[in-house]
Amino acid sequence: MNDVSRANVTVIGHPLIQHKLTIMRNKETSIAGFRRLLREIAHLMCYEVTRDLELETVRIETPMAPLDAPTIKGKKLVFASILRAGNGLLDGMLDLVPAARVAHIGIYRDHVTLEPVEYYFKAPSSLDNRLIIVVDPMLATANSATAAIDKLKERGANNIRFLCLLAAPEGIERFNAAHPDVPVFTASIDSHLNEKGYIIPGLGDAGDRMYGTK
Ligand code: PRP
Ligand code: URA
Repeated sequence: MNDVSRANVTVIGHPLIQHKLTIMRNKETSIAGFRRLLREIAHLMCYEVTRDLELETVRIETPMAPLDAPTIKGKKLVFASILRAGNGLLDGMLDLVPAARVAHIGIYRDHVTLEPVEYYFKAPSSLDNRLIIVVDPMLATANSATAAIDKLKERGANNIRFLCLLAAPEGIERFNAAHPDVPVFTASIDSHLNEKGYIIPGLGDAGDRMYGTK
C-alpha cells in the first residue's frame, strides 16, 4: 500500500506496518503481543514521521580520516505521550531517538460525555522551536488530542506533529479544524465512530488492550 497524503494527513502504507496492525486488531492477540507490536510499529512510524528532518554537518574524526558528517540539526526532539496508551508508541520512538525529551500528558475521555479529563501534565520547560511529536494510538473524536495540543501550544510549542495508529474520519475533520497547522500521521483511517465514540472497525480500547485493564 502506498502512502496517501490528503488535507494534512499522511496514511503510512508500509506493508510491515499494515501487517502488524492487522495482528493488533485481531481480538485474539494477547496483551504481550499487542504491546510488542505497538512498539515495533512505533519504530517504523518514527522513521516516516522524522523522514524530512533537517541535517547539518559536524566535523568528526573516524579512525581513518576527518569527516564532515551529517547529524540532525536543531534542538532535541520532544515526544509527547498522551497517557496511558501513548506510552506504547513512546517506548518505540525512544528506541530510535534515545536523546529525545519527553512530555507526559495525562488525559482520559469521560465514557459518557466523551469530553477530555486532564489529570497530569509535565513537559520540558522550553518547547518553542523544537519539533514536538505527540503520540497516541487512537484519534477517535479528537477531543483528547486537541486538548493535549492546546496545552502544548499554551506552553509555547510551535512545531507539532501528531502520530497515531488509527484515526476516525470524524476525528480527523475535528482535529484539522482545531489545529490546521499540525500534520497527522496514521496507519489507517477507519470507517466511522460508533455511538459510544469507538473507532469501527478499530482495535477496541487501546489502553485496556495494552495493560489488561478490562
Ligand atoms: C483513548 C486513546 C486516546 C483517546 C481517543 O484513551 O488512547 O487518548 O481514547 O479518543 P478521543 O479521540 O475520542 O479523545 P482513553 O480515554 O481510553 O484513556 P486511557 O489511555 O487512559 O485508557
Ligand atoms: N479510544 C480507544 O482506545 N479506542 C477507540 O476506539 C476510541 C477511543
